[in-house]
Amino acid sequence: MAVMADFCPGLDIQVVDVDQKRIDAWNNLEAECLPVYEPGLQEVLDRVRGRNLSFSTDVATAIQRADMVFLTVNTPTKHRGHGAGAAADLTFVEQAARQIATSACGSTIVVERSTLPVRTADVLRKILSQGCGNHFEILSNPEFMAEGTAIDDLCNPDRVLVGGACGQAVAELTGIYANWVHPSRIITTNLWSAELAKLTANAFLAQRISSINSIAGLCEASGADVEEVSHAIGSDRRIGSEFLRPGPGFGGSCFRKDILNLIYLADHYGLYEVASYWRAVLELNAWSQRRISQMIVQALFGTLRDKRIAVLGFAFKADTNDTRESPAIAICRDLLHDGATLRIHDPRVSFADMEALLVVDADGVPTAGWFERAESVFSACDDADAVLILTDWAQYRELDWAALASRMRRPAWVFDARRGTNLAEAEAHGLETWQIGRGGPH
Ligand code: UDX
Repeated sequence: MAVMADFCPGLDIQVVDVDQKRIDAWNNLEAECLPVYEPGLQEVLDRVRGRNLSFSTDVATAIQRADMVFLTVNTPTKHRGHGAGAAADLTFVEQAARQIATSACGSTIVVERSTLPVRTADVLRKILSQGCGNHFEILSNPEFMAEGTAIDDLCNPDRVLVGGACGQAVAELTGIYANWVHPSRIITTNLWSAELAKLTANAFLAQRISSINSIAGLCEASGADVEEVSHAIGSDRRIGSEFLRPGPGFGGSCFRKDILNLIYLADHYGLYEVASYWRAVLELNAWSQRRISQMIVQALFGTLRDKRIAVLGFAFKADTNDTRESPAIAICRDLLHDGATLRIHDPRVSFADMEALLVVDADGVPTAGWFERAESVFSACDDADAVLILTDWAQYRELDWAALASRMRRPAWVFDARRGTNLAEAEAHGLETWQIGRGGPH
């Protein structure tokens, strides 16, 4: 919304949330205090906050005044009941829709912005139609931004997608985007296509990562090198070069949730083979994580008791403090279960966030071992038996292996799950190395 406010000074945008603490955080004018870390966000906010963008908890008044309401509530995966583990939990969507139905005034366009299961617009329509005589139009306008590059993705989108049945409402929203997006990049569809396109885009991206990770395993076994393979296949323009970087598996708030949604939808329509096809993408992602912890245990002589491991990176990718579905979670839990001592370094993730995810595993079983947050890569490596690189932060590309190796206990290992460091230099200082997707003698 900040980017929209920036490009459209004529719009008056109010962001509302029932959570006072969250709103206070967004209203905090001190630099570096925002609830999310996103490069470029502070600068945009500094321009628009108090000009044509405001944050408040007065949800009812904001809805009452609005011509257009963007629904950006969270849709986590259901944890219990029917569809648990796959279906999206629409509690917050429903609550928001009920609030819109009671507070809206006159004619209101409701825009689905969150990633929602296909046909959520039906749910909205049913609830909104209970409102007292107001007129509602529903549009789907899924966001395709990725964390860490969100501001650039929003300023220069590959495409903007607007789905809806009412030409007038669609024109009003596309008219807003036309302030900064070329018309050729604004795609209009029906509601259901827009909803499904968002899930599909994420599923296709995630599928590519699972595919390349499977090939990384094959490279290690066969003597091939995954970077060469990626480059060779990525040069085929039908395949393209993006999303072919191997790693410890995909994380983030969208991919797993959206694929689960797709699986639920396929099962719902009786398309069981389709469901199991997409389930396999998630299974491969879990394997991508599991195999790393297994390989480390094996390399460190079958046990991690009394072993110290420096873990570099806990966020699900670089340039974010987000840990949702981060591959580091499952990998660190596995290592802790084996009794390891972990010193985890991440430039943006707090100890509290690490602690909340590592004290117990996914089944609620307390982890063994011990962990702490390291202030620097150097302190993480003191007396360590191994260094494990899990996030692609730029600073890990420049590691000083001479200095780090001298702090470690020998024999010592480097496990590079991101292909983000100079392993030849680590080897030159006597470290054993493993790199994802690198086969053959090192
Ligand atoms: C994703 C989609 O890209 C975005 O369009 C959608 O709106 C939300 O979900 P995001 O979750 O922020 O965005 O991150 P993204 O950059 O897509 O990366 C997801 C995961 O895949 C990360 O864990 C990343 O490290 C991993 N990844 C990505 C790879 O392992 N290899 C790649 O080549 C690319």
